[in-house]
Amino acid sequence: MAMAATSDLVSDHGLRTDLCLEVFPSECDAENTGILAPIARRRRFANWQMASSALLLVAAVVAVIVATMTTSQSAMKDDVLDDPLAAPRALTGADDNPFRGQVFYVNPSYKASLSKSIGDAEGTVQKTLQDMMDVPSAYWLDSRGKIKGTDTDSMEGIMADAAKKSRPELVTFIVYDLPNRDCHAKASNGELCCTYKADGRCDYADPGDGTCAAGLKQYMQEYIDQIAEVLKSYGGTVPVVLVIEPDSLPNLSTNAGDPRCGNAATKSAYKKGVSYAVQTLAAADPKAAIYLDAGHGGWLGWPNNMADYVQTIKSLDVADHLRGFASNVAGYQPLGSICPTYDYCLNGAHPEHACCADPCGLLSKWDPAQNELNYALHLRKAMSEGIPGFEPHMIIDTGRNGVADMRADCANWCNIRGAGVGLVPTTATAKEDLLDAYYWLKTPGESDGCTEMLPDGSKCPRFDADCGSPDSLGSKSGEPRAPEAGQWFDYQIKQLAQNARMQ
Ligand code: BGC
Repeated sequence: MAMAATSDLVSDHGLRTDLCLEVFPSECDAENTGILAPIARRRRFANWQMASSALLLVAAVVAVIVATMTTSQSAMKDDVLDDPLAAPRALTGADDNPFRGQVFYVNPSYKASLSKSIGDAEGTVQKTLQDMMDVPSAYWLDSRGKIKGTDTDSMEGIMADAAKKSRPELVTFIVYDLPNRDCHAKASNGELCCTYKADGRCDYADPGDGTCAAGLKQYMQEYIDQIAEVLKSYGGTVPVVLVIEPDSLPNLSTNAGDPRCGNAATKSAYKKGVSYAVQTLAAADPKAAIYLDAGHGGWLGWPNNMADYVQTIKSLDVADHLRGFASNVAGYQPLGSICPTYDYCLNGAHPEHACCADPCGLLSKWDPAQNELNYALHLRKAMSEGIPGFEPHMIIDTGRNGVADMRADCANWCNIRGAGVGLVPTTATAKEDLLDAYYWLKTPGESDGCTEMLPDGSKCPRFDADCGSPDSLGSKSGEPRAPEAGQWFDYQIKQLAQNARMQ
């Protein structure tokens, strides 16, 4: 998992050109559309720079709009219809929260990983690691090989184990094996491809005939259908939560300018793949709660990025099967506190309010979703306005966001130094009709990606330069090298435990 470089084509309006055409058709013809040159390789947060340059142009206009909104909101503050935190319009409410009243499954394979690190840990770190042994977390189905099996490092084994409990426990799986996976980075490049290179890895640059038909066939038959089979065999008797394909659709929204993401094959793989996954898995277990990955507030928080993402979701026509969205999956964005209304902190407003704390400096770049709670608030609104009748609920990955301000640059995402585990999984969220749960979705202690050299001294095939960032473990002398994404990183888990804020 990892994502990166943005080189979107951006119009004069700070909108992607295709979106600009929708919103300002008369002004977005070829001549009028000011296309900024694709910018050098950056990550999710590259949007900041895009935002700061493009949005400077509209800043003055926005300032006026925000000022007007702020005035009208305070003038109407007694009017419930104007209260964005009032109950959602749709009937599916907090009462249907799939996490509520369930016992969350603690995976023995995670316990086994933790025990490896407990042995030589000391003091409070050791104590925290011991406490973490009882914390539930999601299980990543990041390859076909993790579906069938008898032990608890397979989906089937986990389902069997969860089913055996006196009352079946809730299991959370991350569905993560799209063809051309991780198109904007290298750390989590996957096993399925649209076009394979001689060494068996993906040739992301080759769009083939633009359909990714062969890769999709493999994904559907050898991966999704297999998961569906396991789900069906339990007939809904084990409560299941599915988080679908981290980073994929967000990458299409902001990284279409990267040919690895923006080529027709990758686009087809992601859109058709996600749509097939949702429909097939919903049919296999109609009780399963399905959340699509929605990046995080430092990625899709800007209105133009969010609008694009909403359009993508709309185009897939799967909203009926979704409980909602998962944010901050494998991210380090702060949870923060939730604001009383939308765009509450923009334009320098309410600096004293706790909900406007902004360790990543996003507000000054016109991103109102500077923490994950505010992101959830804005995403729900954008979705319900863009897809009538859709009132999505959110879950937030709190596995590694216990510390809020440990990065020199919040664009960094790989094995962040100084991070700590965050709130343990719970349904006691800041706004229960919006947020179903906080959950440990990325398995804390599993690496985000390797350093250039692996711990054994060999060259890492999936090295991503972002894993050599100054905020990444392994980039400072005295720190150990990081293993490949998904592998146990002893040094990291001890640091996550040392800086833990679990309650
Ligand atoms: C990796 C997966 C891994 C997951 C959970 C992702 O970044 O690519 O292989 O299963 O993280 O650790």
